[in-house]
Amino acid sequence: MAHPISEHVGYLALPGRYELFEKSISAVVRPGDVVADLGCGVGVLGIQCLEAGASEVYGIDSSEAIHLARETMVRAGLTDRYHCISASTYSTDLPEKVDVLICDHVGHFGFDYGIVDMMRDARTRMLKPGGRIIPDRLSLRIAGVTSEAARSKALAWRQEIIPEPFRWLDEFAANTKYGHEFTPEDLCTQDVAIGEIDLLCDEGDLFSFKATLRAKGDATLDGLGGWFDAHLGGGVWMTNSPLEARSIGRPQAFLPLKNAVEVKEGDEIGVKVRAGADGKLIAWSVEPPRQRGPAQSMSTWASMVLSEGDLTKRSDRPAHLSNDGENARYVLALVDGERTPAEIEQIVLQERPDLRGTRRATREYVQSVLARSTSA
Ligand SMILES: C[S@@+](CC[C@H](N)C(=O)[O-])C[C@H]1O[C@@H](n2cnc3c(N)ncnc32)[C@H](O)[C@@H]1O
Repeated sequence: MAHPISEHVGYLALPGRYELFEKSISAVVRPGDVVADLGCGVGVLGIQCLEAGASEVYGIDSSEAIHLARETMVRAGLTDRYHCISASTYSTDLPEKVDVLICDHVGHFGFDYGIVDMMRDARTRMLKPGGRIIPDRLSLRIAGVTSEAARSKALAWRQEIIPEPFRWLDEFAANTKYGHEFTPEDLCTQDVAIGEIDLLCDEGDLFSFKATLRAKGDATLDGLGGWFDAHLGGGVWMTNSPLEARSIGRPQAFLPLKNAVEVKEGDEIGVKVRAGADGKLIAWSVEPPRQRGPAQSMSTWASMVLSEGDLTKRSDRPAHLSNDGENARYVLALVDGERTPAEIEQIVLQERPDLRGTRRATREYVQSVLARSTSA
């Protein structure tokens, strides 16, 4: 995972993105609005909402970036109006309902960073009836791509430099979605609209899109490129299309083929993309004309890294506390509303110094249990 310092300056450096949000926020946010900045990072979108007249913003982020947001608000003198919450949006209960939800969760392909699930949950639990959301609509586009640079990402585990015991990971590689910056020349078919997602409506847990792509010339079809046009509000659209000068320059999604296919000008290629609302599960299939090769189906399900425990977990048996669960129960039983975290740590170090093998590991364990399960 990128360090928040390099990650978030990257978002600010995307050409035109800041201005597009500014324009849409000024159209959507009204004076006095209360806003939830979902996945706020260092707090950029929330500050833009305050500048547009919002009275208060709740900024929620589950990464270390929230600490940078908090310090930013201190330095900007905004701590009375921008409230930082260090948590996942799914586990956050706000003290009041908000007028506006805002996020930049559009990933590479619109739905692949989990915006559908996150907005649905936040809309249901945090938004006032009739509230507004940014973005509120996604339009998805797709094209066949020919690109050695993209292909090499999917073939990385086949390289000579990879020691033999790891070559099996090649099976995962073709079932993985990559971020890649395509040029217009990389698109070997016409691009087509493959679907729309209305983030204000409940669209279900599974999306299914179909399209027919037509080859522009003779080419090696390496896979599919997918991108978004996101309606931020007030008629302002934000895209990462490789064909648009107004693109914010964010990479597109690359969905590779297991085996590249040689296509001829005018060939029609059937394409299906199915995706879960959490953005993690994406399945794509590509059907070239029969004489060019067989249909191919790929899915991120086939590249999910699951532990043995994940695979054997059964939901129809009684649950028992694991060792870790027992330890957490012991630590949390010491939380009585009176003791400070430092006092609880001291008690554990006296009573059970070897809870985690060494005092250092025990101390860090107590701190992590208290950090995720208590509030000051
Ligand atoms: C694409 S960045 C956008 C940051 C910021 N909103 C901006 O526009 O500059 C997404 C941020 O959302 C956070 N995030 C992702 N899913 C989240 C969730 N369910 N709850 C809280 N934060 C989340 C990540 O840690 C990351 O900082």
